[in-house]
Amino acid sequence: MKILLLGSGGREYALALKLRASARPVELVSAPGSDALAELGACVRLDLENPSEVATWCASNRPDLVVAGPEVPLVAGVGDAVRGLGIPCFGHDAATAHLEGSKAFAKAFMQRHGIPCAASHTVVELAAGEALIRTWTHGFPIVLKADGLAAGKGVVLAQSEAEALVTFRAFMAGQFGEASKTVVFEAPLVGMELSLHVLVDVDANHASYALLPACQDHKRIFEQDQGPNTGGMGAFGPLPFLRPQDIELMRTRLVEPTVRGLQVDGLNARGVLFLGVMWTAQGPELLEYNVRFGDPETQVLMQLLDEDLGRLLLEVAEGRLVARDLKLKPHTALTVVLAAEDYPEGARKGVPITIGSPAVTLIHAGTRKQDGQWLTNGGRVLNLATSAPDLAAARAAIEGSLSQVHWPGMQVRRDIGLKALRHAEAGKTVQDPW
Ligand code: AMP
Ligand code: GLY
Repeated sequence: MKILLLGSGGREYALALKLRASARPVELVSAPGSDALAELGACVRLDLENPSEVATWCASNRPDLVVAGPEVPLVAGVGDAVRGLGIPCFGHDAATAHLEGSKAFAKAFMQRHGIPCAASHTVVELAAGEALIRTWTHGFPIVLKADGLAAGKGVVLAQSEAEALVTFRAFMAGQFGEASKTVVFEAPLVGMELSLHVLVDVDANHASYALLPACQDHKRIFEQDQGPNTGGMGAFGPLPFLRPQDIELMRTRLVEPTVRGLQVDGLNARGVLFLGVMWTAQGPELLEYNVRFGDPETQVLMQLLDEDLGRLLLEVAEGRLVARDLKLKPHTALTVVLAAEDYPEGARKGVPITIGSPAVTLIHAGTRKQDGQWLTNGGRVLNLATSAPDLAAARAAIEGSLSQVHWPGMQVRRDIGLKALRHAEAGKTVQDPW
């Protein structure tokens, strides 16, 4: 099977490892890929924001399947363009990708389909937003979201009226270009955040989905959830204290109304939806939709999935997903991100990395190879990932391999999964305060 994989980071490297683990031979081509992905297949330079460039390559190279890693190509219409050639694409149409590409569209979708979420106001005018802030009644922080894609930087939790005004004015002045000239204000939700991934295959005639295990990301750069937000410093799953009835609650309150809503709205879906969930005192509420796999959640999910990934993604891409419980290892998986100095404000690149022999899976995210030497080449540089019979054992396995990878300035959180482990050991459930 010839597969074109779009992307270049840790998520794509984890997908590539899993695609290659198929019993059937896989010919992998990554675009644009990376030096690390070049060791798992070919790489081709394509502009992922240009659907016709991707389609032109596909028309002459005829892959059996295209797998989209990031959201940007989907929002740009790469899924539509590839499907237009009759080539299966795991990745939604642009109209569906709008669920991530526009927070205002996503909120309207949630409200239209009765999906529990934070109360919100969408604002397109300076005076209206300033008045909203001055008469805000939902408590603090005031959550401000740039409507469009902002590379993960478009959400601000303003702790005061003054901070909200400064943030809002910067957004309206074009801090993220057109993406921030529409602003969604949200009431704050308090609780435990988790990541729920669902494979979805929806068109006018049929709708099916398959749940992946719930994971938890760790967004802050420092241990004990301190410091600025990052793309994610580590993740694990499934959550040890989530009971079957908790999964059922997310299925009935969030997932099924979403799948029905897609069909009612005439939106085709052929890929994954990653639901950002806040488990509040009222139960699970939806923070956001992503139309792609999470990073680093994918590194966890690929350790747990016990299916032929290429075959599974092709089922979705060809619109013949059979709703079912996916085969999973009876394990807990965990990934720890090794990040560059200065991340997340910047990233010190070009620093030589010492790599020994970790006893767990090494996942490249932002690396480059020069004269046989791996160098840092991004904010999130490498991941260590593994699965084990339980969360404590998974943590111990990663801890045992941490000494095998190093460079000056490397940042790592050694508390990935620790809060959840203590929560579970104390006999608490998802309903208890987090
Ligand atoms: P989003 O991109 O919408 O997931 O927002 C980024 C992060 O901001 C989320 O992962 C949450 O931690 C936080 N966040 C977003 N919306 C809210 C909200 N309404 N209340 C509290 N935190 C939020
Ligand atoms: N780990 C969060 C994300 O991929 O958006």
